[in-house]
Amino acid sequence: MKGIILAGGAGSRLHPVTLAVSKQLLPVYNKPMIYYPLSVLMLADIRDILIISTAEDQPLFQRLLGDGSELGLRLTYAVQPEPGGLPEAFIIGADFVGDDSIALILGDNIFYGPGMSDFLRESRSSLDGCVLFGYRVSDPERYGVGEVDEQGRLIGIEEKPARPRTNRAITGLYLFDNRALDIAKNLTPSARGELEITDVIRPYQREGKAKVIDLGRGFAWLDTGTHDSLIDAGQYVQVLERRQGVRIACIEEIALRRGFIDAEACHRRGARLPKSGYGEYVMDIAKKQMEMGLR
Ligand code: DAU
Repeated sequence: MKGIILAGGAGSRLHPVTLAVSKQLLPVYNKPMIYYPLSVLMLADIRDILIISTAEDQPLFQRLLGDGSELGLRLTYAVQPEPGGLPEAFIIGADFVGDDSIALILGDNIFYGPGMSDFLRESRSSLDGCVLFGYRVSDPERYGVGEVDEQGRLIGIEEKPARPRTNRAITGLYLFDNRALDIAKNLTPSARGELEITDVIRPYQREGKAKVIDLGRGFAWLDTGTHDSLIDAGQYVQVLERRQGVRIACIEEIALRRGFIDAEACHRRGARLPKSGYGEYVMDIAKKQMEMGLR
């Protein structure tokens, strides 16, 4: 399975903050926003990842993440010149994906909760069509909204409906088999003038091949779409990290724990950021791992 992070868009709801810098590079507490979706893909054991951004922002993402080799990843980059809709990820990324399946995640989506890596890997290995992740929200009209039968199959999906039929938002993480590439290629823009992700999902739904996994109450799917929700997301991360002494979406830690890199490589990454608590944390994790190896 290949991963795509869609990190383009104009970020207009966060102006003027995003006039000069991409939304997905803004801090969510103590790390850039893109670390969070990147860590989700890493937890699913996906190491081949395409990052799609605007042309102006691409060098910044490259400066931040490079070719990914230090994290045991293969990162490549592509440009989306205009925000023409989420399915453009499949058109722009077609060569990168080849005949593989795809995990698409939006660069501004933050997920945090128990058992994340297990259910991601399980959904990945049993993929037959597409897998979507549902989350109960109080304001479903702001999202893609899904209706689901008792077997967890999607039976209806609407983008930002004025009168939502359920409270289940369909989050910005999607697993698709390779057919999504063809579906996306043949789409036409909606009344909003964009290609819609719901139009990629619908053919799967008709065949009963769109599965929805509901993320339960103990799960956090955080919004970063407005100034207030961005601060709230940062504070959520801050509260958990300070209380527990662990880091959420620390990409070095995930790379180490998933065996993408060894403890020395992890330590080297931390040593480059010696003055931040982040670097210390990474070095600490690496040292603990080295000690365990010696015991
Ligand atoms: O966050 C989940 C929601 O994301 C889903 O529930 C909706 O079904 C889906 O359409 C999408 O809704 P949004 O209103 O959040 O879409 P938005 O246009 O804000 O784009 C989401 C992110 O993707 C944003 O960070 C910018 C990026 N993006 C968006 C478009 C349309 C791109 O990089 N390129 C694009 O062409």
